[in-house]
Amino acid sequence: MRDYILALDQGTSSSRAVLFDRAGRMAGMAQQAFRQIFPQQGWVEHCPQEIWKSQLTVMRQVLAQQGVAPSQLAAIGIANQRETTVLWDRATGLPLMNAVVWQDRRTADYCESLRRDGLEPWVGEKTGLVIDAYFSATKLKWMLEHIPGARKRAERGELAFGTVDTWLAYKLTGAHITDAGNASRTMLFNLHTRTWDADLLALFDIPPALLPQVVDSSGVAAHTLPELLGCPVPLAGIAGDQQAATFGQACHRRGSAKNTFGTGSFMLMNVGAEPVASQHKLLSTLGWTRGKETSYLLEGSVFMAGATLQWLRDGLGIVDVVEQIDALAATVPDADGVMLVPAFTGLGAPHWDPFARGAILGLSRGSGKAHIARAALEGIACQNVDVLAAIESDAGMALTELRVDGGGSRSDMLMQLQADLLGVPVVRPVNIETTALGAAQLAGLGVGYWQGLDELESHWVVERCFEPAMGRDQREQQMAQWRRALQRAAGWLA
Ligand code: G3P
Repeated sequence: MRDYILALDQGTSSSRAVLFDRAGRMAGMAQQAFRQIFPQQGWVEHCPQEIWKSQLTVMRQVLAQQGVAPSQLAAIGIANQRETTVLWDRATGLPLMNAVVWQDRRTADYCESLRRDGLEPWVGEKTGLVIDAYFSATKLKWMLEHIPGARKRAERGELAFGTVDTWLAYKLTGAHITDAGNASRTMLFNLHTRTWDADLLALFDIPPALLPQVVDSSGVAAHTLPELLGCPVPLAGIAGDQQAATFGQACHRRGSAKNTFGTGSFMLMNVGAEPVASQHKLLSTLGWTRGKETSYLLEGSVFMAGATLQWLRDGLGIVDVVEQIDALAATVPDADGVMLVPAFTGLGAPHWDPFARGAILGLSRGSGKAHIARAALEGIACQNVDVLAAIESDAGMALTELRVDGGGSRSDMLMQLQADLLGVPVVRPVNIETTALGAAQLAGLGVGYWQGLDELESHWVVERCFEPAMGRDQREQQMAQWRRALQRAAGWLA
């Protein structure tokens, strides 16, 4: 009996494997962290082999833990950290260097030069993206320029490029594929024609022979190599993690939106079957394709959310585990004027300032770690207020509720602050692993395990709704102070 769907959620901080049953309930999960490599200020790398090994380990682990045989899997779905760039040798399957992670800023100056050349509107019209080091194109160009012999080998068709979905699909099945949602994050993909764009490939000097084939986000794309699990299993869902979370939050309809508090914070609104061009430096991006259906999204990507809390633990050492932050922050009634701007890796939407850096302002003799903890939570929430305002204005729709997920959404204090500062109810579902759920759902639909969107909506159940409780004046005052702090952090390295 093919009883389960296995979702692989390959995130920035860890690899997870999550089993789902037919009711869309989590039937088991295994997780493994891997190394974060920081070779220089502003650079972030991962080892692709560690990504793969951790992913394979947790896949096998969750099956063993739950006593599920691979033959009981109806399908596998992948959700992945997006934009992170891998380059490997087609003959050996070995990466040429570490993956350059989405947070990596090494190409910021090059991006700045493209903007100075006035290319942003042209690139934006084609891709829906702003020109930023965030996306894969400039990372791949950097690799081709810095790895001896790589460009020649790429031109001869000896190398393969992929985002992390592509890398995992290749290791799992041998196929060199991606889905249109992931492709739309490379800055090499045309949002309107839904194909690789020859003009962009020429601009970034990327040999087309490097590129993966674009497949549907839902549908059997390939089968796992039999030796991996003992029998072939269909790979039937591929989506970037934020796209997958939007799907898993049942944001199937135009106007619905979610925010994932992961390493970063990603707010996405479903805008329907046509892309919406942003006037506020949001990303217009492709959600998923299912046969003839395509869903587009508007996205506000914020680079540091959960990672800010990890920094309180690892960088500052004021808590032993992230779960202590709420309790620490609750020991003070407010941040007492302390503001924390989480621009540790620059600022994403709607500011796009790669030269901004993190800042703590407003310290006084009375400030302590509890104020800093509280200021960190407030800083994360304030970033999202700026993003929501931009999304509402671009989409021409006001949000009635924000669905939340990701590890950071476990923090009740952060969720209440978020509702207060947004002035919109924040709704947390029972299953906050919606990234994995979305990948499972795309795969399940792809093999007919689930029949349609109505059935999927029953998987989404509210656990708690945080109603806004802050007065308008206080909210405005807080946001005014946030904007002043933001100005101080802006352009710090410029
Ligand atoms: O665009 C980057 C994003 O996909 C990373 O997500 O969950 O690993 O923070 P996450």
